[in-house]
Amino acid sequence: MGGRLIVFEGVEGCGKTSQMQLCAEWLESLGIPVILTREPGGTELGLHLRRLLLEKAEDKPIDEVTELLLYAADRSQHVAQELKPNLAAGKYILCDRYIYSTIAYQGYGRCLDMNLIHQLNHIATGGLTSDLTIWLDVDVEVGLARKGKDGVGLDRIEQETLAFHRRVQQGYADLAASSPTNIIRVDGNSSKEIIHHIIQGIVREHLNVS
Ligand code: TMP
Repeated sequence: MGGRLIVFEGVEGCGKTSQMQLCAEWLESLGIPVILTREPGGTELGLHLRRLLLEKAEDKPIDEVTELLLYAADRSQHVAQELKPNLAAGKYILCDRYIYSTIAYQGYGRCLDMNLIHQLNHIATGGLTSDLTIWLDVDVEVGLARKGKDGVGLDRIEQETLAFHRRVQQGYADLAASSPTNIIRVDGNSSKEIIHHIIQGIVREHLNVS
């Protein structure tokens, strides 16, 4: 029996991590085998790439196309090493970010060519799409405030300008508007419990979990 790929997306500080944890605990309580993973950094190689991508190195800026290629490399390894084998083993995979992050951050945020991004996403995934993508929608300012005040402790991408993060948010909004069945918006401003309850309903409806 094949597994399922459920992806969580959103801007910085949108609450993905705690919702993924709650969702995993709920699915496990139903006897469903669950794997939690993330991009970048869901493999050993990916952890090295994550460090390169997110550490602050003001004196060594990363070229925008290089950044795109590093995210694609992380994804290619992740799909081959983690996602495909675990789906084949019948697991439910909860994945923190996938192809929509690249569209939102590198496409809308960095304004890179969308055709190039779609091609790289296709190469990196080998055509593997999610069964369900949940977008936790919070205001950019609210999310960044949750991450840290005055830029202290923020990583390379979190440190980007407010305008960059607003473009990323617009990217998710456009994706959800143009493919409402592929990426489902959940209001991330409610309490953790309410959001979890809404996510349970979406997973039940879309993946026939009872
Ligand atoms: P996070 O795992 O804490 O959400 O951090 C990952 C960061 O990497 C986040 O700022 C979003 C960014 N990112 C991209 O810019 N492009 C991508 O394709 C992915 C997967 C993440």
